[in-house]
Amino acid sequence: MTEITLNTTSGTSRIYCGKGAFEKRAPLIGGKKFVITDSNVYKLYGQLIEKTFGGSTVFVIPAGERSKTFSKLTEILRAMADDGIKRDCTAIAFGGGVVGDVAGLAAALYMRGIKLVQIPTTLLAQVDSSVGGKTAVDFKNVKNLVGAFYQPSEVIVDPTFLKTLPPREIRCGLGEIIKYAALDGDIFKSVINNAENLFSLDFLCSVTAPCIRHKAAVVARDERDLTGGRKTLNLGHTTGHAFELYYRRKSHGEFVLIGMYYEMYVAEKLNALGGRYYDDLRGLIKKVIKVPTYDDVEKAARFAKMDKKNRDEGISIIVPSRAGESAELTVDFDRYVQLLKEVK
Ligand code: NAD
Ligand code: GLY
Repeated sequence: MTEITLNTTSGTSRIYCGKGAFEKRAPLIGGKKFVITDSNVYKLYGQLIEKTFGGSTVFVIPAGERSKTFSKLTEILRAMADDGIKRDCTAIAFGGGVVGDVAGLAAALYMRGIKLVQIPTTLLAQVDSSVGGKTAVDFKNVKNLVGAFYQPSEVIVDPTFLKTLPPREIRCGLGEIIKYAALDGDIFKSVINNAENLFSLDFLCSVTAPCIRHKAAVVARDERDLTGGRKTLNLGHTTGHAFELYYRRKSHGEFVLIGMYYEMYVAEKLNALGGRYYDDLRGLIKKVIKVPTYDDVEKAARFAKMDKKNRDEGISIIVPSRAGESAELTVDFDRYVQLLKEVK
């Protein structure tokens, strides 16, 4: 089991990562607990949850992004109050990124903050969303518009949970892993060397801790996304989020992959991306997903105008500049749309 410590100005997060981490760490969570999970995860792991956290209230939200809403958040807060949760109790987010985001925000708000433990069960949540303290719900048709930075005191990352994850959800996590490959030279090498076994559990286990370490180092420098470092973790997300809001049929991780592919094309046309490196990353994305083209891309692109990174001059995208480095580009909206239309 690997232990990674994330120190931020708002506190310390201890991240335990590796096979058996759940069995070792979860029984040590003391005091009264309130568990939040989703309907799919409860079907698979309800007995384990009851056995490990016996006697705790288990609040089950419907699986999927549709639960990242204000009304679900309110329901959780109401259930916490009904259960007599006090400031010394612990909220446990047991599930994927949706559970982590909404449960994390409930923990941040309830009595101005109770202890939070993240137990991510999807690949995406294990390599990315459970670490770093971003919590949110979607609002007014904008992803993550309302949220808080709230660090979990502990994150338990056990790859054993990935055994039940459908291939489509592995693909979503690979989206974030390829993002880290674009940002980190060592992860890039490891992903390229395993390009033929990206879906194998052994490879995924080997790459999880390096991704978490990369994220923890970025968050330690720029927890609140203020000085620019953390923006790099948004690579592919400007376009990915816009497409996610407009097209909807795919999930977050798939749109991150598609967003990276489209944004790399934009960057290449603006001379911000080296050829060979671009080809390698594009090749990796194509191994994981069939990248669609869209007739009405202009309508989807309008959602990119809401991106939190934008400045007055245009649309902000984060692009890999060369292996292990990234840069922020601001593109005039009309040019951005024109280039998105050219993607094949
Ligand atoms: P998700 O939470 O919807 O989980 C995907 C699906 O997998 C769901 O149907 C879920 O029920 C199921 N599932 C979860 N664990 C399982 C398991 N072990 N076995 C079988 N099925 C399982 O989606 P996600 O991809 O984990 O997360 C996406 C969300 O994360 C988005 O809302 C996105 O905005 C957010 N996100 C947040 C951050 C952050 O820093 N806070 C970063 C990236 C993404
Ligand atoms: N996933 C982006 C971030 O945590 O900042």
